[in-house]
Formats: sequence, structure tokens, C-alpha cells
Amino acid sequence: KELQLNIEEIEKGGYDHFMLKEIYEQPRAIQDTYRGRLLADQGLIKMAGIDDNLEKFMNANRIIIVACGTSWHAGLVAEYIFEDIARIPVEVEYASEFRYRNPVITDKDVLIAISQSGETADTLAAIKLAKEKGAFVFGVCNVVGSTISRETDAGAYTHAGPEIGVASTKAFTTQITVLSLIALKLAKEKGVLSKSKYHEFLTELENIPSKVERALLSNELIEKVAEVYKDATNCLYLGRGYNFPVALEGALKLKEISYIHAEGYPAAEMKHGPIALIDEHMPVFVIATKKGHYEKVVSNIQEIKSRKGKIIAIVTEGDEAVKELADHVIEVPETFESLTPLLTTIPLQLLSYHIALMRGCNVDQPRNLAKSVTVE
Ligand code: G6P
Repeated sequence: KELQLNIEEIEKGGYDHFMLKEIYEQPRAIQDTYRGRLLADQGLIKMAGIDDNLEKFMNANRIIIVACGTSWHAGLVAEYIFEDIARIPVEVEYASEFRYRNPVITDKDVLIAISQSGETADTLAAIKLAKEKGAFVFGVCNVVGSTISRETDAGAYTHAGPEIGVASTKAFTTQITVLSLIALKLAKEKGVLSKSKYHEFLTELENIPSKVERALLSNELIEKVAEVYKDATNCLYLGRGYNFPVALEGALKLKEISYIHAEGYPAAEMKHGPIALIDEHMPVFVIATKKGHYEKVVSNIQEIKSRKGKIIAIVTEGDEAVKELADHVIEVPETFESLTPLLTTIPLQLLSYHIALMRGCNVDQPRNLAKSVTVE
């Protein structure tokens, strides 16, 4: 028993929990994801799974993404990237819903299944269904040799390394990284992205690990914010565009490990319901980075403020306007709008971690949850 404990301590590498270790591993994990694939100086993205099946992607009528949980959120981010940059129509579905709704699938469809574990039963069942209907099925998995990685026609690993904490962190950001690489590669092949923009993207992707590193420097500030809101019973997370899925993911992280009820919403939908919930007891986490509909989000923040909601804003470094309005601001470095999820996710992960810890929750193994769900 003692020996086992020691091994676990070693595996945690000096961190108190696997989740914290995995949050801090993200700069490295993201780098590992694009290492050998992203050759910025040559202007190349090399991914065998895509290179060998380029025709399938180029001729696809649409891409259908299926996943569960956090991986589904990565799929939602990917939807924005694929449509925005590569101009390919995308649908994102919960694997469990997809398989039970008699979906229209043809051999002109490409299905991308995203799964950290590569073992999620619903995702696996969705893959089988799509294959039966003749679609080309591509897997984005973390666990090498997992069932999904074997059942798919081709794929790309995230190379995030083992993720032990039940709440997914580095799997999410590395999934977004892989999917961004694919979108960029297809955009280039289709000729829908200018050469200069494509090159700028490759260079900026290489800057992401150090920017994640910088986002992690807010840890102490985030701990203080966590102290203020640890006893909340409800929280709202808002974001727009690329950061709408990040709002969903932020809320999911808080629910999973701190057992606080949290909801993620597209900021503009607030007026269609959630605004009724806002009073002085409601903390609202708003992702308000520059670009991404910034002015609109600022006006959403004003609406929250006038109803006395507490505002915790994730902003771009140097932001002044939101600072005036929000109760707390947490900064992340500036980047391209489509890459902001890789940065805005970081403070929300840390926040959930600290709140869960302060509430005495089992951060790495939250009640009722499993790392990989192999039942349907
Ligand atoms: C479980 C885990 C989540 C994960 C989801 C999908 O619910 O607790 O963290 O996001 O399954 O898992 P997958 O391995 O398919 O990404």
C-alpha cells in the first residue's frame, strides 16, 4: 500500500493532484501534439492520416463530428475552425444522440470521432453506424491503440500523454490543436486561405505553448478569485463564437469537480432566459477577449452589472474597458481569434481546480464520474 502511494506521488511529479499536473503540462502537451507535424519554416503540415486520405476530405460534402463530454466541446470549437478557415460545412453531435436519431449519412460524408480514452461506448457505436452507411471515419484519440483508434479508417493521435484526472484538461487543448492543424491543412489544399494568412497561422500555433505558459501565471490571482466564489450554488459561463464552447467547457469543469451547478451559454442567448437568474448572488464568468465580438460581449457585461451580477471576466492582456465593469479580470495573451480557446480555457480549468479543492472535493476522482465510460 505504502509503495503504491509512493508511486502515485512520483507520478504526480510534485503536484498535489493529477489534474493540476495535467493543467500545467499543457504547454508541453500542445507542443508534443504538433511536433513533427507542423513545419512552419517549410509552410507544411504533415499528418499521415490526412495525407493518405486527402481525397476523402477534399470531396466531402460535410464533416460530422461525434463525441461526448469535453471531447464534444472540442468538436464544437472545431466546427468554428473548419467552417471559418477551411469553409467546410460541419455538424457536431453528441455521439449518443447521433446514433439514435436515424441520421442521414452517405459515402460523401467524413465523420470525425473525438475521444481522449478511445473507449467511450456511445462514440464507438456512432462510428460503427457511420461505417455501415459508408462514411469515411477518422479518429482523434489520445490513448494509443485504444478501441476507437483501431475501429476508425484513419486518425491522428493527440499525443497529450496519459491523462489521469477524471476531469479532462490537456486532452481538450490538444484535441483543439490537432483539429486546428487539420483545418489549416485542408484550407491550404482547398485554396480558401491566403498564403500569408496560412503562414501566419503556422507561426502563431508555434507561439501558443509560451502563451499558455503565460496564462498559467495567473494561478495565484485565480486562487484568490476562487476563494471569493467557492460557496456559490450556481454559476453562469458566457462566451461568443469560438469562446462559446469554452463557456460550456468551463461550466462542465466546475460541475464535474466542485459539484456547483453551472451553466454555459452563448452570451447573446442570455436575454432569452438566463438573465432572469442574475442577482447579486450569481457569479457570471464571461469570456471577453478582444476581436471575437468584443463590443457585444462588453454590452452583455453591462447588462449583468445593471442586475448586480458578479462579473469575472477573461480578457486579453492590457484590456481596459472590461476592467472598469468587472469585479475581477483574468488576463490571457493576445492571439488569433480562432486560437483563443487554447488560452481562455486555462484560467477556467484552474478556477474549477481551486474551488473544488477549497470545498474539500476529490479533485482527481469526483463522485459518480468515470474517466472512460464504456457503458451506453
Ligand atoms: C467521461 C469523462 C469526461 C470525458 C467523456 C468523454 O465522461 O469523465 O472527462 O470528456 O467521458 O470521454 P472520451 O474519452 O471519449 O473523450
